[in-house]
Parts: sequence; C-alpha cells; structure tokens
Amino acid sequence: MSTYKDVKKITTHVLQEMKIRGEKISMLTAYDYSMAKIFDAAKIDILLVGDSASNVMHGHETTLPITLDQMISHASSVIRAVERSLVVVDLPFGSYQGNSKEALNSAIRIMKEAEAHAVKLEGGEDVVDSVKRILTAGIPVMGHLGLTPQSIYKFGTYEVRAKEDVEAAKLLSDAKLLEDAGCFAIVLEKIPAQLAKQVSENLKIPVIGIGAGPNVDGQVLVSHDMLGINKDFSPKFLRRYLNLYDEIKTAVEQYVDDVKRMDFPNEKEQY
Ligand code: KIV
Repeated sequence: MSTYKDVKKITTHVLQEMKIRGEKISMLTAYDYSMAKIFDAAKIDILLVGDSASNVMHGHETTLPITLDQMISHASSVIRAVERSLVVVDLPFGSYQGNSKEALNSAIRIMKEAEAHAVKLEGGEDVVDSVKRILTAGIPVMGHLGLTPQSIYKFGTYEVRAKEDVEAAKLLSDAKLLEDAGCFAIVLEKIPAQLAKQVSENLKIPVIGIGAGPNVDGQVLVSHDMLGINKDFSPKFLRRYLNLYDEIKTAVEQYVDDVKRMDFPNEKEQY
C-alpha cells in the first residue's frame, strides 16, 4: 500500500485524496531556506509561510505589522528549499481586506515574486468575494476560521473561539461558504474539538486544525513553538518536540567559553 512517503510532490489534489482515504495531513510553518529544507526532507505535507513570522521572526507582538514584501521575501526563501511540500503563503493583514481586486493583486504578487503554490487568508463570509476572485486567476486558496489572529483587536483575547452556539453556527456556515467558493482546504484555529469534528465531517475539503482536537483531517503547528525555540508561548494544545532554546543557548555559552579560554580554534581548526 502506498503511503505519504511515496508521494513525490504534494498538490491540492493529493491533499484531497488524503482526506478521502482518511490519511492525516501534516503541516508546519516555515519562514527561511535552511529550516524549510529540513522540514521538506522530513516529508511534511504542507509548509505554511505564516504571518506568525511577524511574531517569531520579527519580534512583533501581533501578526498585524508584517508587510506583503516581507512575506514574499520569507516565501521565496522557503520555495527555494522545497522539493516535495506544498507551500502555502499567508496574505498579511492589510493586503486583502480592502476589496477583492486588492486581494487578487496581493495573491498574484505572492505567486509571481515568490513562486508559491497557494495562498491563505483569514475570514469567512467577509472574504468570500476575494476568495472567488483569487481563484479566477487559478491561484489555490486556503481558508482560516476560528481564532484569526489578524482580528485580535476585535476579539480582545487569544481565548478559544466559537464556544457559544451563535458563533459556532456562524463558523459552520462560513466553512461551507469557503468550500462552496472553491477553497482547497481550511485551517481551524483554537475552537472546541467537537465543533471542529463537525466541520470536518460537513466538508469535502481537508480541514487542518491547530488547537482544534484530533478529529480533523490534519494538524498544523508553528515550528518555533513545537521545536521549543520560542519558550514564551505554551498553550494547552502545543506539544513541544524539542527544547531548542535551551540547547542553542548551552551551545552558544560553550562557544563563548571556548573563545574566551582560547580553546577555540585549536591546532586542527586552523590553516
Ligand atoms: O501564521 C500562522 O502561523 C498560522 C497558523 C497558526 C495556522 O496561520
């Protein structure tokens, strides 16, 4: 039986097949060439050049400040590293909310200048016209519902979304609207597991969760969080696979010490 390891190149079509046969989709964020090369070699299905780059790469408190030019720069580094993964790039705040023409122009810049494979944008009913317009140019679109960090100042907190019936019903209808508009997949962020399960069962397209429980079609995490590079963020849904902050700090402390003691470079480490 063939598995994900046999797939040479992930496409939106391959992801759809994975959903049909119940194979879970793996997705991680990536923002630079070297990390993307490792993740691609590890056979991650989707690499998301997330606007979380605003936080983990640029040190901003929110995702709002990152620009389209910065996203394109991150995305083109990732694209150069990748042989197998599908690379999806976030449309940053302010690059698509104005109107569908602005959304299309921003998506075209990402596809043309970074040579990305698809774009992602946040929102439901409000962005459906933009989703349709971007699709007219042949650009695959991934949706994003639930906790949508670009709206943090509207929400006021990073708490779990759609716990109440009204918001849950709206999320279910937005998910269907995005599917009908032609999105190839949807990310659900930080919503009750039971609701995420219902969305996944209602939709034919893959539903990828982050803090949305196990009963969806795939999982995504921010790579800096799961690798323990960023220790400031520890939500319940996060599993840390490494503690790179401490490991890197120990290595750098050792290097500093070696330099100070004139232990580095030694005889073999010179010409
Ligand atoms: O920008 C990002 O990292 C994301 C994920 C949280 C899905 O959108």
